[in-house]
This record gives sequence, structure tokens and C-alpha cells, in this order.
Amino acid sequence: MKKVLVIGGGGREHALCAALARSPQVGTVYCAPGNGGIDAVAECLPDLLVSDFDRLAEFAEQAGIDLTVVGPENPLVDGIVDYFRERGLAIFGPDAKGAQLEGSKAFAKDLMARHNVPTAGYRVFDDFDAAHDYLQNLEYYPVVLKADGLAAGKGVVICEDRETALTTIAEMMRDKRFGEASERVVVEEFLRGEEASVHAVTDGKTLMIFPTSQDHKAAHEGDKGPNTGGMGAYSPAPVAEGPMLDKIIRDVLIPVLNGLSMEGIEYRGVIYAGLMITKGGPRVVEFNARFGDPETEVMLPRLKSDLYEILFTAATGRLADLEPPEFDERPCMGVVMASGGYPGSYQSGKPMYGMEDADALDGVTVFHAGTRRREDGGLSTAGGRVLCVTAVGADFQAARDAAYAGVSRIRWEGAYYRTDIGHRIL
Ligand code: AMP
Ligand code: GLY
Repeated sequence: MKKVLVIGGGGREHALCAALARSPQVGTVYCAPGNGGIDAVAECLPDLLVSDFDRLAEFAEQAGIDLTVVGPENPLVDGIVDYFRERGLAIFGPDAKGAQLEGSKAFAKDLMARHNVPTAGYRVFDDFDAAHDYLQNLEYYPVVLKADGLAAGKGVVICEDRETALTTIAEMMRDKRFGEASERVVVEEFLRGEEASVHAVTDGKTLMIFPTSQDHKAAHEGDKGPNTGGMGAYSPAPVAEGPMLDKIIRDVLIPVLNGLSMEGIEYRGVIYAGLMITKGGPRVVEFNARFGDPETEVMLPRLKSDLYEILFTAATGRLADLEPPEFDERPCMGVVMASGGYPGSYQSGKPMYGMEDADALDGVTVFHAGTRRREDGGLSTAGGRVLCVTAVGADFQAARDAAYAGVSRIRWEGAYYRTDIGHRIL
């Protein structure tokens, strides 16, 4: 039986571990560091940090791990895949060069420009005065300012007017609000439309398309308030289905994969296209080099095929030899439960109740993001996003009702969630 190591400790990693544990080939799933809920489907390794490549690789060697799967973007951008491959260890994810697709917005924009991938018009600035002058003279607002490097999803600011743009660019470039990540800034045209995500797994040559999905980034109802890592999601995303999906594959995914390959990058991992579906067709808002969170929590409960086989083949072999993956036709909806105050400051360590009752409901699966197992066996909150309560249902309404029925069973002091997940399709 195969042994798998999943790196990370959020809701995405819980969903990955659960799907890998369902594989008929997999005996043991390990998760480093894991969290309080992942221990139901995997052996958690709380002392192994995501950034400690040495100890992770040592563990993979000693435990005889057949495949390591990387959840978050930081280790990918920092070269964990290069490090494992040098040691002859099989690992799923792009190498550091490939991970630039997410790690540098300027790299991604320039690649798209070279290969005619539709995206927002843009300029890249390394110099504060030049960026300031450009914004001073710009006629069209709103405009979008993006820190070039990784900023945990918080490095993007939509500026409604010139004054806001000039203040923001000073904060980013002069005051280094995002540290090194905002020494270079991308100034981008504002796109109007509806957002959707398409994930594809690739071995560098063949694309395996996963279901479409959409997340809710804003903290509050009606998509208001500050951006978060994601307050809920659903799959599929009707706005990106049918002929639109064909167009996304033809105009976005195939050209970007060909572009990477032509530029000498053999990209093995996930290409996650964050899209704006505009009147003029799909345009790329961003690429990510890994599975989305919370999108993974609503895609993988629909997966009927063997996730281990898919990821192992993408990492080491020919995806073209596999059958296309099968997914449950029924939709899945996920509601994120967060600590009160998130994405601002919040308290952790609150005792939690009712997760098992929620899990027992028909179609419902509770994925843990920020939870910790206490000495007495109970669970406490340990982060901003705490849980993602998902449900598969006959239709979107049924999936949503079931997900919120799950949410209603769960309680801790200060729990916060949006009550309108899926409002655009219902
Ligand atoms: P990103 O981190 O690039 O995905 O940006 C975060 C969020 O900002 C996106 O999910 C969009 O909601 C919004 N956004 C980013 N770029 C644009 C754009 N060019 N036009 C409109 N909204 C954008
Ligand atoms: N849900 C957005 C992300 O994973 O980047």
C-alpha cells in the first residue's frame, strides 16, 4: 500500500487528505503539520513545519513516502519541489521556476502577454516616482494595484479614484507595506464581470480539467468588506460552464501551458486560473500554482476517481495515459466558519462543539482549517478561518440548505460566517 505525505494544515489539506485516503492504493496518509480535524483521516506531524524542507525530506525518506503533495504556495515558490526532486523523492507541484506563475505577478503578466492569454491591461513598476507619475496622469478609474510577490491574498488593492491610488502606491512602494513583495507593483486595468475559477492538473504536456468553482472572497454579506482567504465556495460555477469552459481551456489554459513549455519550464502540478467572465469573454485575474482554498473543499467531495493516481501520474508520468477524471454531477457548497474579527485580529483557543453532529448529516462533510486537538480530546479554534462546512446536494438549493444545517449544529464563542454563500446562483 502507498504512503502519502501532504504538506500544509488548512481546509484544503484536510480535503486533499480525505480524498487521498479514499484511494484504494493508499494505506497511510501523513500530514505535516496537519490540524485538529485532519487527524481523523491522516497521521498528523505537528512538529514538522511547512518551511523546514530538510526535515520534511528526511521524514519522506525514512517513512518510505511514495508521493508528497504540497498544499500551500509558499514552499512551492521557495523551491520545495526542486529540493525533493534532487533527492529523488516524488512530489506533486511545480518547481520554483514554474511556481513564479503565482509567486510573481509581473512574471505571470509578461508570460500572458507573450502568449496572447486574455488578461487585464497592465504596467509593471520598480520605481515609486514612475508609478506615482503614471497614476497621477491616468484618466480611467478604478485601477487595481498589486504587490508583485506573495502577500497571503492581501496584496491587491482596488482604488476607486486617483487620491486613493496615490496614497496606496506610496504605502506599497515607499512604506513597503507588504515588505519585499511590494517593491515591484503591477498597475492593472479594472475588469467588470463575474469571477470563477478553473483548476487543471498537468504533467507539463496534458491538462486534466477539474470542475469549475467560485469562491466568496469578501468578509461580509453582499460581497462587502475586506478581502479574506475565502468565506465560502461552490462547484460547479454555472457562469464558466459549457461553451465558456471550452473557451477558457482553448484561450487560457492551453496557451499558458504551451507558453511555459516553450520557455523551458516543465510545469507539473496545478494550474489554477482565477478568471473574470467579462462581456468580452474570459480574462485572467491571476494564476495560482496550487489548489484553491476553499475551492478544493467543494471540488474534491465531487471527485469519484482515484486522486492518488492522478497526482502521482502528473508528478512522475504521462497524464495522457489516464482516463479523464469522473466527478459527481451534483453540486457542492461550502460555508467557511471563522473566528469573530477575521480577517482583522481575532481570538483563538475557544472550545468548539457539534462538529460530529454536523458531519453525520446526509451529504455534509466538515473540513477543518484552524483547529487544534486539546489534551482532553476536545477541539479548540486555532486560526482565522476555522472550518469549511460543505455539502453535496441534488441541486444548489439542497446543497446550500444542507451546508447551513451543518453550520447550525456547530458552536463556539464568537463564531462568524456569511449567511449568503451562493447568492448569485440562487
Ligand atoms: P488576486 O489576488 O490577483 O486574485 O486579486 C484578489 C481579488 O481582487 C480578485 O479575486 C478580484 O476580486 C480582485 N481583482 C484583482 N484584479 C482585478 C482586476 N483587474 N479587475 C477587477 N478586480 C480584480
Ligand atoms: N480561494 C482563493 C485562493 O485559494 O487563492
